[in-house]
Amino acid sequence: MGLLGVAALPGCTSTNDGPSPSQDAATGGPSQDAGSLADATVASDAGEQQCEPTVAQAEGPFGQDGLQRSNLNLYGHTGVPFSLAGRVLDEACRPLLGAQVLLWHASPSPPGAVPRTLTEDRDYTAAVYDHPLEAGQVTPDGQSVPTAERMYYGWMRSDAEGRYRFESLRPGWYLNGSTYRASHLHVQVLVDGAVRLTSQIYFPDDPFNDRDGIFLDCTPTGRCTMAINAQGEGTYDLVLTG
Ligand SMILES: [Fe+2]
Repeated sequence: MGLLGVAALPGCTSTNDGPSPSQDAATGGPSQDAGSLADATVASDAGEQQCEPTVAQAEGPFGQDGLQRSNLNLYGHTGVPFSLAGRVLDEACRPLLGAQVLLWHASPSPPGAVPRTLTEDRDYTAAVYDHPLEAGQVTPDGQSVPTAERMYYGWMRSDAEGRYRFESLRPGWYLNGSTYRASHLHVQVLVDGAVRLTSQIYFPDDPFNDRDGIFLDCTPTGRCTMAINAQGEGTYDLVLTG
């Protein structure tokens, strides 16, 4: 299996340091309750809703080339399951039908496997973005692969209510330069083939959140974490501008 390391991501430098994170917070255990799917709603003015635009974040070097599928948990790995559901909305909270929601993330870590230090931990197998298949092969869910495909990549179209949904395993941690990045999902939204949003979505209980410079760049500017309940059901609305 051709593993592709992810050290030194362009634009993904974290200079934070500090004590080692606690292990038990990263195993997918209880976290905050799932919020309403309308959690992007920020104001009502004369009866008109307004939704807070999703913060733009870097695409990173491993852009999306996955297939149309909502279940990304196809590869027999052990990990912490989660689902992510939400809506694609405009700033007036109107749903967008047929928006293409692309989701991708690094490979999972087994439950309980967490780096013991912020810098390289030789006892921890870092998460990777992977290329297991070549064009012409068939994925475990029976889809033929038109191009070399990475694991944990997929896309869906929003329905008439703007809703999308994915299932997967929580991504593990990988070194970004000298420190680990927080567990995160990459997301992109296309409308009529044009990219309208590129961002990253985080888990509220991840022990590396407050040590990841990319996450810390996001938090002063808006919503950066999904809401997720103890059953691993996450919600996050994607709000487009323009
Ligand atoms: Fe990433």
